[in-house]
Amino acid sequence: MTDSLPPFVAPEQTPEWAELLASADAWVARRITDAFAVDATRVDALSLPAGALWLDASKQAWDADVLARLLALAKAVRLPDGIEALFAGAEVNFTEHRPALHMVCRGGAAVPPPDRERFTATEAHLEALTSAFHQGELRGATGARLDHVVNLGIGGSDLGPRLVCEALSHLEPPRHGVRFVANLDPGDFNTTVRGLEAARTLFVVSSKSFGTAETLANLERARAWLARELGTHETAAHFLAITSNPDKARALGFAAERILWLPPWVGGRYSLWSAVGLPVALAFGWARFLELRAGARRMDQHFRTAPLERNLPVWLGLLGLWNASLLDVSSCAVLPYDQGLAWFPAWLQQLEMESNGKRCRRDGSLVPYPTAAVVWGMNGTLGQHAFHQLFYQGTRRLTLDFIVPLPRPLDAGRRALAQHALAQAGALLAGRTREEARAALRAQGLSPAEIEALAPHHEIPGNRPSSVLLTDGWNAGVLGELLAAYEHATFVRGWIWGIDPFDQYGVELGKELARTLAAGGTLAGFDPSTRALAARLDAHR
Ligand code: F6P
Repeated sequence: MTDSLPPFVAPEQTPEWAELLASADAWVARRITDAFAVDATRVDALSLPAGALWLDASKQAWDADVLARLLALAKAVRLPDGIEALFAGAEVNFTEHRPALHMVCRGGAAVPPPDRERFTATEAHLEALTSAFHQGELRGATGARLDHVVNLGIGGSDLGPRLVCEALSHLEPPRHGVRFVANLDPGDFNTTVRGLEAARTLFVVSSKSFGTAETLANLERARAWLARELGTHETAAHFLAITSNPDKARALGFAAERILWLPPWVGGRYSLWSAVGLPVALAFGWARFLELRAGARRMDQHFRTAPLERNLPVWLGLLGLWNASLLDVSSCAVLPYDQGLAWFPAWLQQLEMESNGKRCRRDGSLVPYPTAAVVWGMNGTLGQHAFHQLFYQGTRRLTLDFIVPLPRPLDAGRRALAQHALAQAGALLAGRTREEARAALRAQGLSPAEIEALAPHHEIPGNRPSSVLLTDGWNAGVLGELLAAYEHATFVRGWIWGIDPFDQYGVELGKELARTLAAGGTLAGFDPSTRALAARLDAHR
């Protein structure tokens, strides 16, 4: 579709694909523990460090041969050229004819910022605003110092800064409180501002398009709340807009100097690194925001320069592709063992599912095998007491990502938390045989009849594949490395699948129908169920 990209090569037409299919057939029937038994080098061969991250992928249903074949496939479909194209600002977002240069914001791209002057001015503006905020120079309608932040935004204009603010707040107290409102549900806004002093509240309205219904509704709520609390409609000083569409922001009442530019070449779900990350700087300081960016930049450099064989985002990307497309494992649970990473699964969900939840390729053909897995999860150890049972004895095939930050020094509480993560991954792999179950029941003093009745219920099949990602230290920089590693892994899969990971045409359809419903438009084109439900809603008072 675009000349600036290396030509698309359909993976299934390469010899490597046929070999991988044969390997996948073998692995479906193979036990991972057997692979450990015959290969003493397996842990080393399938572990990889990058920066402060350490990936152990040896408990996955693959081996060094499969990895070698996946790497050969990556070369056959010209992934190295794809990576270079990404960093050089080629139109990797080929349906929208745009580069995807979020790495520019963190200094990790191979090219200077397009629109350099505007970009540099925005950076200076962000830093100055942050400093003015911390100096107490930002004042609201009553003259009071603004010192609480509420971010209004959704999707990429919410999840990245929300995740980072939450993660950092577990490492240090924020200098200023920051809260997030995303949902169209008025309850989100109402409960979030509860207890805040309107006179001291700054709203950061983040929306790449400045046309997103949820965010605009929350902007209106914020204006109404301030007017009600402060007794004036002159509340412009309480708002900043971050957008790629300044005209729209101006039309909605924002003065030019209160609008920060989000470059169009930064995708919404990659926008944390741009002005959209402002809440991080307001809450934790400009220096901390730069540390976060620096960590991501280190991962950019690694991704761009490390050979594929020792490239962590490439491994993560290939492993995800192997599981999703070749082993047909359609569910990936992501389990951060860190309370501060509570929003990581949601962030990753948007990253992978909105980027790669697609099927149409650059040449217009459809991908003839499954693409992005369903990504979900919860921070450990909470999931252990909710859904891990299904991992142990359920009938679904899934893969798990255990994310285990290891702060330095590691206190007893965090060590125990990490031990739980390792124990889960190990136990899910080992399982418990019928004979082991019998022995355990026997030790409890049960009768032979009870033992035979209960043993099948205590048997655990094991062989559940998982990866464990440890960090060496835990701070803003390491968090930046982690997020960028997953971003690039998403790119790797999108490249090999031949889809555009930077557009999101699917979600537009639901938005159109919601607009039709809100406008009381005709639903003639929709199914009887939707029409009947809409009529019921209309009648509801
Ligand atoms: O509807 C999906 C989406 O467009 C995401 O890609 C984006 O992150 C989110 O909505 C918010 O969009 P915006 O930043 O334009 O308000």
